[in-house]
Amino acid sequence: ISLRPYNTFGIDARARHFISVNTVQELQQALALEEYPEKFILGGGSNMLLVSDIEALVVHVNLKGISEVEREGDHLLLKVMAGENWHQLVLWTMQQDLGGLENLSLIPGNTGTAPIQNIGAYGVELKDVFHSCEAVEVATGKLHSFTKEECEFGYRESIFKNKARGKFVITAVTFRLSLQDHHLNTSYGAIEAELEAMGISDPGIQDVSRAVIAIRRKKLPDPAELGNSGSFFKNPVIDGDAFRVFQQKNPEAPFYKVSETAYKIPAGWMIEQCGFKGKRFGDAGVHKHQALVLVNHGNATGKEILGLAHRIQEAVSERFGITIQPEVNIIGN
Ligand code: EPU
Repeated sequence: ISLRPYNTFGIDARARHFISVNTVQELQQALALEEYPEKFILGGGSNMLLVSDIEALVVHVNLKGISEVEREGDHLLLKVMAGENWHQLVLWTMQQDLGGLENLSLIPGNTGTAPIQNIGAYGVELKDVFHSCEAVEVATGKLHSFTKEECEFGYRESIFKNKARGKFVITAVTFRLSLQDHHLNTSYGAIEAELEAMGISDPGIQDVSRAVIAIRRKKLPDPAELGNSGSFFKNPVIDGDAFRVFQQKNPEAPFYKVSETAYKIPAGWMIEQCGFKGKRFGDAGVHKHQALVLVNHGNATGKEILGLAHRIQEAVSERFGITIQPEVNIIGN
């Protein structure tokens, strides 16, 4: 079958064998199928670039359900199955007046894949609201539980992208959300500006969510209209010495200070400086409002998008002496 409907880049790669699982038990059974020694786990398909067809058995994780685990004072532990669409979950929590996910509105993908890259936006990362998750071990079919510490979260990183890569399928995520006295995070300049434009001086979580949605709609393409995987690259983090050299040559460059010795440089800015913003090579392109996002104008292949990514990496490296790495998982070769 074509995997086009299953990846937000809209790449027409093929899967020879495909199965969709609706329960943890069905997942365990699929993982145990001996006739397919290799399995490929597919969630929301929002953070991958398919560069070739998939020979392995594609297991589409379609587990659904949301349940309350327990109350912890002013907080609620909410367990969400992996196949729940992320943004639908955020909207649902906003309706229930549960605080914590508002800054993470409108991020494509499913709940079960959100911890893998510790999704983040506008000053909040998944780890800030994460309590624990459950995951089935691919090799044994056993259900494991991971605490926040065990997930080893970092900027767009977790154990599931590193040591445990490919070894577990996340089946459910438990969040710790506020029931009242919500702690708002509006320090990100764009949110403050958007709230002001909306004429809101005393915002609630729903207002923050609406502001984030408005900002994202302006900058980021809707995968339903234009195939993409959000930020294609991570923002590089460089040390103090490298930063001083960089800043001397590029005094106008935006940056975030991560610590006394680490600085994050927006890759989107560097890509724009290299002249790629809005450029198109066949159907592979760079988004016109945000150069960090690569887009599929229709029928680009994964290889064409990857080729463009390599050209961009080379140009950035040549001009700024900084290597940028993909955030998106490259599947195949
Ligand atoms: N910039 C440019 N040109 C561009 C893009 C950005 O000059 O084409 C400049 C902006 O003007 C701004 C700075 O770069 O000064 C940062 O831009 P922005 O606020 O858009 O954020 P970002 O660093 O490009 C990161 C995340 C996004 C997240 C936003 C907001 C990564 C890899 N990306 O982007 O996450 O939405 O911050 O928090 O960290 C994603 O991961 O898919 C994603 C969209």
